Parts: sequence; structure tokens; C-alpha cells
Amino acid sequence: MERGLGGEVPNKARLAILLSGRGSNMVALVNGVQHGVLKDLAEVVVVFSNKPDAPGLETAAALGCPTASLSSQGRKREEFDAQVVELLKGYQPDYVVLAGYMRILSGTFVRAFAGRILNIHPADTHQHQGLHAYEWAFEQQLPETKITVHLVDEGLDTGPILAQAPVDLRGAATLAEVERRGLAVEHQLYADTVARLLRSELKIEK
Ligand code: GAR
Repeated sequence: MERGLGGEVPNKARLAILLSGRGSNMVALVNGVQHGVLKDLAEVVVVFSNKPDAPGLETAAALGCPTASLSSQGRKREEFDAQVVELLKGYQPDYVVLAGYMRILSGTFVRAFAGRILNIHPADTHQHQGLHAYEWAFEQQLPETKITVHLVDEGLDTGPILAQAPVDLRGAATLAEVERRGLAVEHQLYADTVARLLRSELKIEK
């Protein structure tokens, strides 16, 4: 990889990370950018939340990331998303990376960053869409679930799959244990997949 005069790597991909809550996937991505698999590949230009009091925002600021928020409470989806698009465009992101962003994106949003929005879903998106995927796996007593990283299209968890990784759920006696095992896989898979995407190593499948 080429380096500039000061040793810096030019053309790092600019990531906008969006979250609504705790932000453990955001932390995994920021760690990857700061000293892991994304180090020479990407920078985090903003961590945004639709919930101004999301704990993940404070964590992001403590990690040295720029943060921004707009409350989605009581807002019409299209109108809110148009405002978020304008805000995000100010940071000129190459990719919008959803990390527990608990909003269904409007067509306005998806079209503004078409093909450049990523999501992590805690199940195989062919088998389960929407919320409560760990509850679903636990209640079904699945021996295994699959974490999915996919591109976002205008459907609910219907976009092309970039990568999947299995989570062994055998012997997981509580929902908390299912989540613990799943999140460990999520954190590694998300950073690895973004890195592979940025190195053009991924075959995009439906
Ligand atoms: C993660 O398990 C993520 O996969 C899930 O929300 C959690 C966020 O945790 N996302 C979805 O269910 C999207 N449909 P985090 O805030 O600690 O990253």
C-alpha cells in the first residue's frame, strides 16, 4: 500500500457508524480502525445516533470519534431520514455502517447511499428478519445460528449477503449466553468483513 510523505496512508475509506444503543459493534469497528484489521484501510468520520442518550455515543466520544445525533422520536420516517442524510453527507462517508441502528431505513436514505450501506444482523437473514433474532434462536432451541453482514436495500434485511459466520449454541441454557456467544462472533465478523470489502476481496451474493 502506498504511503504519503508523512507515512500516512492516503484514501482510507471514510466510515459513518450508526447506532441506537450500547454500541458494542461500534467499539469492535473502532478498535479495528485504531489498531486492528481496518488500521490502514478505514477511518471513522462520525458515529451517529437517532437517540441522543444512546450509551454508544458516549463510548464513541471516549474512543476519540466525532459524534452526532438527531432524535427520531415522534418524527415521520421520510422527513427524519432526509435530515439524517444531509447531516451524514457533511462528513462525506464512503460507507454507512449500521451497528445496532434500530430503524427501518426509508427509500430516501437507501437511495442516498445506494450500495454503500452495511448492516450486521444476528441471524441468517434468509431465516429471520427484523428484531429479536437471538430470542428467536433461543426459543427455537437452535443448535446453531448464523451472523450475517449484508448490504442494505429497500427491504427488511433482504440485501445481498457479504459474509456469514456460525455461532455454536449447543448447551447455551439462557438467552444471555446465546447473546454472549453471538456478540463475540459479531464483533470479529463485522470488522473482518468491512476489511475484506475494502480490499475488494468479497463476492457479493444474494
Ligand atoms: C447486535 O446484536 C446487532 O446485531 C443487532 O443489535 C445488537 C446491537 O448491539 N442488530 C439488529 O438486530 C438489527 N436488526 P450493539 O449496540 O452492542 O452493537
